[in-house]
Amino acid sequence: DLADIGVTGLATMGRNLARNLARHGYAVAVHNRSHSRTQQLVREFGGEGTFVPSEDLAAFVASLKRPRRAIIMVKAGAGTDAVIDQLADLMEPGDMVVDGGNAHFEDTRRREAALRERGLHFVGTGISGGEEGALNGPSIMPGGSKESWEALGPILQDISAKVDGVPCAVHVGPDGAGHFVKMVHNGIEYSDMQLIAESYDLLRQALGASPAELAQVFREWNQGELNSYLIEITAEVLEQVDAETGKPFVDVVVDQAEQKGTGRWTVQSALDLGVPVTGIAEAVFARALSGHPEQRAAAASLEGPALSGTEGRELIEDVRQALYASKIVAYAQGFDQMAAASKEYGWDLELGAMATIWRGGCIIRAKFLDRIRAAYDANRELPTLLADPTFAGAVNLAQDSWRRVVTTAVRIGVPTPGFSSALAYYDGLRRDRLPASLVQGLRDYFGAHTYHRVDKEGAFHTDWSADRTEHPA
Ligand code: 6PG
Repeated sequence: DLADIGVTGLATMGRNLARNLARHGYAVAVHNRSHSRTQQLVREFGGEGTFVPSEDLAAFVASLKRPRRAIIMVKAGAGTDAVIDQLADLMEPGDMVVDGGNAHFEDTRRREAALRERGLHFVGTGISGGEEGALNGPSIMPGGSKESWEALGPILQDISAKVDGVPCAVHVGPDGAGHFVKMVHNGIEYSDMQLIAESYDLLRQALGASPAELAQVFREWNQGELNSYLIEITAEVLEQVDAETGKPFVDVVVDQAEQKGTGRWTVQSALDLGVPVTGIAEAVFARALSGHPEQRAAAASLEGPALSGTEGRELIEDVRQALYASKIVAYAQGFDQMAAASKEYGWDLELGAMATIWRGGCIIRAKFLDRIRAAYDANRELPTLLADPTFAGAVNLAQDSWRRVVTTAVRIGVPTPGFSSALAYYDGLRRDRLPASLVQGLRDYFGAHTYHRVDKEGAFHTDWSADRTEHPA
């Protein structure tokens, strides 16, 4: 019998996705470059459903029902193009090639255009939730044509996570939209983790608290408005004790954060779009700073203030508030970036729907996303999440704490770039007049770059080197 859908690339994510499909009653064609992995999947999990194994891609494609639906789950990069080309050569008009890796959205746009020329559908889709999610229900962010969504959507919604019965899978938009949204998801994931790390670091330094005590703090926070997967697993990682040394796990792990690149891509795209995603940028740069041991060794003897370890316990609640406010800012920025990309690439993204599919399955899943969805439900054209009355109120309530936290961090010399830059963004955005007017004046002075006036239409230039009179430019 022919398979309903296929998965090629059976490393952990691909294997788990194939099992998820099989468990939902789909006959799944499976293929892997080295056949032993395919055999292993069928041997170990064959009982979970119907797998149709193939040794080569031609047989894999031949084993699929038409129109064919094939999901590629290989490591993103140059290898992806080769697999897509091979698949495309074996397919027929109307068939669908789905790329479930973390591809760059520009690559996805290019690939989609190329396959469209050949009458094939190319669906670049974000899949979040790690190994666990792939198996038990991920958040799925597919781009591509409407026709491909009609053929794939029901299956993807079936295997996705559900929150209140609503699937965490929706048609994001054309071509690269799905991979773009997944990229921003990852960027937000970076900033969430950075803010959590700053909270832990500041409380540990300022209070002299142990990781185990802080695990308890995060566990309590998880009961309230910060409730989320990342806060939950922070408690678990902090209370972990190294079996070999008996030390806290976080004290035996090398303090250099690695990255595969999606956070960096988010910032690169934000620079192109002109959207200040300072929360994500600070997170990427904090990882980069941690990853320069030679500079850190050279700087280790530089002076700082005396670390006190004597702050009062009130700091805990202040940090919770600072974390929440900074998180609101980081998400506001990430959603701005999606809005800007939607305009730039003509995607017509529905931002509330993005919040909806991130409520479950993915790494940044959180109660919080319900509030974002509600904000866009109330106003589809919301210019910034910070203008939503719920978030405006929350940030206003948090701001005294937030300012105390940044002040304390600066005073005792603990770096909190996430908290500080989020606060600077908030203060910048709410400002009546910004010193950008002075920047404009300087640009006009040295480069005759012109400026606009608050009281008149048109561009102007002041003759700085002569009589300093103003002329229309
Ligand atoms: C997910 C994750 C996943 C990836 C992380 C790791 O949504 O399931 O985001 O895609 O494991 O993004 O990224 P870094 O290695 O760059 O931290």
